[in-house]
Order: sequence, then structure tokens, then C-alpha cells
Amino acid sequence: MDEIHRTVRSYVIRAARLTTGQKRALDELYPVFGVPFPPAPNLQALFPASHRQVVEIGFGNGEATLEIAKAFPDTGFLGIEVHPPGVGHLLNGIRQEGLANLRLLRYDAVEVVSAMADSSVDAFHVFFPDPWPKKKHHKRRLLRSEFLTDLGRVLKPGGIFYFATDWEEYAEEVLATLTALTVFENTFESWATGVTWRPSTRFERRGLQEQRPIRELQFQKRSIP
Ligand SMILES: C[S@@+](CC[C@H](N)C(=O)[O-])C[C@H]1O[C@@H](n2cnc3c(N)ncnc32)[C@H](O)[C@@H]1O
Repeated sequence: MDEIHRTVRSYVIRAARLTTGQKRALDELYPVFGVPFPPAPNLQALFPASHRQVVEIGFGNGEATLEIAKAFPDTGFLGIEVHPPGVGHLLNGIRQEGLANLRLLRYDAVEVVSAMADSSVDAFHVFFPDPWPKKKHHKRRLLRSEFLTDLGRVLKPGGIFYFATDWEEYAEEVLATLTALTVFENTFESWATGVTWRPSTRFERRGLQEQRPIRELQFQKRSIP
């Protein structure tokens, strides 16, 4: 990873206002449901009973993450997020639901993914990443060519990259980047449609309220890139 990539992050950590419950969850539940980093997470070892292993990047407060993990108990999910209140919130959800197929990692996903083994993940989910709308901030966007290339490396052949956003111009940029990367092929003609497994999130509802259409993309790693 070059110097620029390490200094330009896709997030800003603001002074976190944790509720008592979130703080307690981080203190008491992260040692149970959290995954240390380094070393690079080994999803097969984390979820030995799961048929598939999926990584969600930037889960926010985890409302979609929790619902998806409940709906697919045979799939192992690793959620990566840097925002402490969101991690605390989802830790409480995991405990309340008694989920054995969802673990969390509080760290920069770019660094975590760069440490992961080739062809080791069945799918990556990215729901409503920060759009960084100002042009001078576009370099902060998570889904840029270098990171998408790395996701392609870590996906198993046939593995899925799924992304949803309410920011059309960001969606168009990612569509163009993925289309240019030979490791991927679009599983739809253009935008993904009819995706029913993803529950709605706060950011999706806000986008819809503000009249922004939701764009989804689903690309697959080619078996022979
Ligand atoms: C706009 S929020 C969307 C949250 C959630 N996916 C949803 O739809 O409600 C984007 C989230 O991505 C997280 N994020 C941004 N860059 C990240 C990174 N490099 N590693 C982990 N999390 C990141 C932010 O902390 C933030 O919580």
C-alpha cells in the first residue's frame, strides 16, 4: 500500500458519543464477538460450519447486517466498521439474537482486506458507503480502483461483489471502474435489480426521502480472469 493510500482514509473518526450500553458492549462483548487484527482474519477458521463466508464493509449501526445474518444462518458474516457506537450497537444485537454466524472487526477495511488471503471470501457487501460528494474529496471514496482490485483478489472465483448507494454519480463511477477490471463481470446488464435479500437501512431511507434513486451493482469474479 503506498504512502498516499495510507494517509487518505475513507472515513473520519469523530469523537464518539457512546451510550452506556454501547460502551459496555465494546468492553464486554468485543472480546467475545470481535475478531483481532492483525493477524488477517481467516473466515474458514472463524466459521467452520458455514457453507459461505461473506464480509460486509462499513456496516454503520448494523441494522441490515443483523437481519441478513438472521436470515442466512448457514452463512458466516464478518462485519468491518470503524465507528465505535455502531460496533457497540451491533455487538448488543448479536448477543440479543444469540447469533453464532456474525463476528465484527473494528478496523479500516482497506487494511484488513489487503492482509487477507487470495480467493478466500464468497462475497463482499458494501451498503451506502460515504459518498464524499465534493470533488476535492472523491479521493476519499472507499470504492476506488485500487481497493476494488484488491476485493477481486480476495474473492473466490465466482464470488460476488454487491454494492448499493443513493449517490448516482458514485454508482456510475464504480460501474465504470468495475467494467474496466477484467477480474470482474457484471451479473446484470447494468444496474442490479430485483435484489430482495438486502433489508433497507437508514441511509437508504434518507436517500429516498431526498428523492435520490437507489443504485445497486452486482459483479462476479470471473473463474478465469
Ligand atoms: C454512510 S455509512 C453507511 C452505513 C450502513 N452500511 C448503512 O447503510 O446504514 C458508511 C459507513 O462506512 C464506514 N466506513 C467508511 N470507511 C470505512 C473503512 N475504510 N473501513 C471500515 N468502515 C468504514 C463508516 O464509518 C460508516 O459507518
